[in-house]
Amino acid sequence: MEYNRRKFVAFLGKAGLGIALILPYLTSCGNNTSSPKTAESISAENLKRLKELSLEGLLPSNKDDLLLTKGLNYHTIIKWGDRINDKDTFGFNNDFTCFIPFDKNNPYDGLLWVNHEYVTSLFVSGFNSKKNKDSLQLKTKEQVNKEMYNVGGTIVRIKQENGLWKVVENDPHNKRITAHTPIEINWDTPIKEKTTIIGTNSNCSGGITPWNTFLTCEENYDSFFGETVYDKEGTYKHKPGIYGWEKFYNYPPEHYGWVVEVNPKNGTAKKHIALGRFAHECCTLYELPDQRIVAYTGDDANDEHLYKFISSKPSSLKEGTLYVADVENGNWLALDWENQPILKSNFKNQTEVLIRTREAAKLLGATALNRPEDIEIDPVTGNILVSLTNNKSKNDYHGSILKIEESNGVFDALTFKASNYMAGGEENGFSCPDNLAFDLSGNLWMTTDMSGNAMNKENGPYMPFKNNSLFVIPRYGKDAGKVIRVVSAPTDAELTGPWFAPDGKTLFLSVQHPGEQSKDLENLTSKWPFYTDNIPKPAVVAITGDLIEKMNYLNKIES
Ligand code: FEO
Ligand code: CA
Ligand code: CA
Repeated sequence: MEYNRRKFVAFLGKAGLGIALILPYLTSCGNNTSSPKTAESISAENLKRLKELSLEGLLPSNKDDLLLTKGLNYHTIIKWGDRINDKDTFGFNNDFTCFIPFDKNNPYDGLLWVNHEYVTSLFVSGFNSKKNKDSLQLKTKEQVNKEMYNVGGTIVRIKQENGLWKVVENDPHNKRITAHTPIEINWDTPIKEKTTIIGTNSNCSGGITPWNTFLTCEENYDSFFGETVYDKEGTYKHKPGIYGWEKFYNYPPEHYGWVVEVNPKNGTAKKHIALGRFAHECCTLYELPDQRIVAYTGDDANDEHLYKFISSKPSSLKEGTLYVADVENGNWLALDWENQPILKSNFKNQTEVLIRTREAAKLLGATALNRPEDIEIDPVTGNILVSLTNNKSKNDYHGSILKIEESNGVFDALTFKASNYMAGGEENGFSCPDNLAFDLSGNLWMTTDMSGNAMNKENGPYMPFKNNSLFVIPRYGKDAGKVIRVVSAPTDAELTGPWFAPDGKTLFLSVQHPGEQSKDLENLTSKWPFYTDNIPKPAVVAITGDLIEKMNYLNKIES
């Protein structure tokens, strides 16, 4: 068995970072650290407590508020527009969050990365895109600049004092990365004649590297600078984006749709071309015993694909091969121009294959999936879970979670077995699974992403589920496998970016796009988080409380 327990634990869920924890699958693989322990001998008492834990879920709600079940509470860490230093403010529509402590022995002081995926123009630039459809003609340069400033990401130092997480304002680490920030490419061939690209956008979910840097993924990039669309004859045309930024900034679409790595210490970033170009939702890494990297990443669009990159050198996201999943036959297909004749006859070189990844994947026979979003590795079983959010064009309204088992449990295997882990729908009480996170005991937490214009519509498929929510699926005890609603989002909002603090006592969570369906400033659908100007504001909150601590009992006894 090639499991490396130490490395695996370092990637546990979205918490990890050196927390000591023994889980059954990991200890049974015979790859123990210098002081081997077994799950049974260490955690019998806490396993018993976990099994006895009784969870009280919330009922579906359409209330415009962030509601939490008994045993949980929250405080806001940072919201849109808050100052991080004398020159910069926190961006809009926060999604992925990732917290890295400065010192693994002090989990209460470190750097928080937050993605800013896109903007609601009405709130950010004052442009009402619901009334003015032609943003390309009507938006001013000043409005575009405001919007470009509010996407990308934020690095901010946060500290916990007296149980409350607070931003350390003006800390030298505090930085913004925006759609104006120059970013290098990690590739030897220029992309559209450039080795430095201007900006990042559509930063949805992400990941963390074994060398403790952040990964931020460019998802719906075509909204901002459009897309180059090819027909069967190979002729192409430009399809414009919806934000009208192109009128003032003529940046090629090929500069976006990549996985971007950010160094938390100095805010420098690079785009990883080898991981392909498409609507990357996330990028989930596993470090092999020889320090080569396996990276899983999904393309969140109807009928798009699941990918994995396997590096050929230690700690590299450049040297290696990108594969795409043939789910029906359980094969990873190499997007390798040199060794795939069909790619050689359709593309000029490997760089073109990577720029036009979606087309290359289809030529190889990749399986069309129903919007692959977040991906997590189960720390107990080693299974890879992939959220398939929905595919309305195929009458899949509620989505499901796909389970991938790599052959022999080896992450660089080229074959796998796929099966359904759990289906969305009324029977399981959730619809449209999106972000996933395992806590330190191996319980699965899941957010949902029903779109704002479909939620709570009379007689619509999403009516029974009411507002988007955060759910937990306990691993142990009488509630094991049940889907329990623990947090309900404000109106129109989506809960995103769940990330556990290293001690498992805080769950960082984004509240994204509250009030997004508002027609104008006089008819706001949400006023969350209820500040005096009443304008709804995306924010990152810290969820704490007895329930989270109890769910992480295993960690408590280990630490
Ligand atoms: Fe930005 Fe696929 O969610
Ligand atoms: Ca998402
Ligand atoms: Ca989403």
